Amino acid sequence: MTFENIIAEKKGAVGVITFNRPHALNAFCAALMDETTRALDDFESDDAIRVIVVTGGDKVFAAGADIKEMAEKTFVDTFREDFITKNWERVARCRKPVIAAVAGYCLGGGNELSMMCDFILAADTAKFSQPEITIGTLPGAGGTQRLTRLVGKSKAMELCLTGRMMDAVEAERAGLVARVFPAADLMAETMKIAEKIASFSPLATMMVKESVNRAYETTLAEGLRFERRLFHASFSTQDQKEGMEAFVEKRKASFKGK
Ligand code: CAA
Repeated sequence: MTFENIIAEKKGAVGVITFNRPHALNAFCAALMDETTRALDDFESDDAIRVIVVTGGDKVFAAGADIKEMAEKTFVDTFREDFITKNWERVARCRKPVIAAVAGYCLGGGNELSMMCDFILAADTAKFSQPEITIGTLPGAGGTQRLTRLVGKSKAMELCLTGRMMDAVEAERAGLVARVFPAADLMAETMKIAEKIASFSPLATMMVKESVNRAYETTLAEGLRFERRLFHASFSTQDQKEGMEAFVEKRKASFKGK
């Protein structure tokens, strides 16, 4: 598929979306978000794709929602068009694992979108912030909610109230970022991790994802019950039989997603 604001590529079992509006530091205009939604729909419906990577390339992830596009909107405009909902939350609804590979600025809606992914891998050049306070508003794509769950109230509050930037080391220490790599290695390391996940049972990876995400939505007792039932359900799959037989026979498992 060809797009104007993103590049969507299939690299073996990994679908890669690269934001491509360098003149606007990859700011998320409506067209970019529509294209991202279409690319995600395509990756999700393609059985050959098992993992998705979202990146802005090696210079900038994204400087947030497109301020020029939204500056003149009224309440009625935003409410009527369900602004920052219909085409933004597709990432959070993906059932396949989604990795954010972040280099450079990851601001506002950029940070919010990276937090909708399953985990964030960062270059040592990455800078994270929720700067909406500096332009007279507040995060509108989950920043106050997901950031608080990831880094805790005190740090989320300080970041959202000051709009300051946090570097990759601090972001990893705070729990926002899973791992940090030298900028030159970010994409190679991301692809290695994506390919490793893609080599496992796609049923098991989707079950892991559902189960970890459940931890955000429910009590510990209910979350444990949900995990246990999915664990039991995994025993109905050929992939569980293959994985355990391969271990016993000391060979590499071949997972079919069945
Ligand atoms: N929207 C639209 N255009 C943007 C943009 C944005 N979020 N961020 C940068 N740009 C544009 C600039 O206007 C500039 O365009 P021109 O060359 O046509 O003037 C170009 O990208 C390069 O930017 P700068 O010249 O500003 O580059 P810089 O290196 O001096 O500064 C920066 C970089 C600190 C990231 C600065 O661009 C900046 O502060 N950007 C805005 C960040 C921001 O406030 N993001 C939050 C947006 S609101 C949001 O995301 C709401 C939400 O919750 C969904």
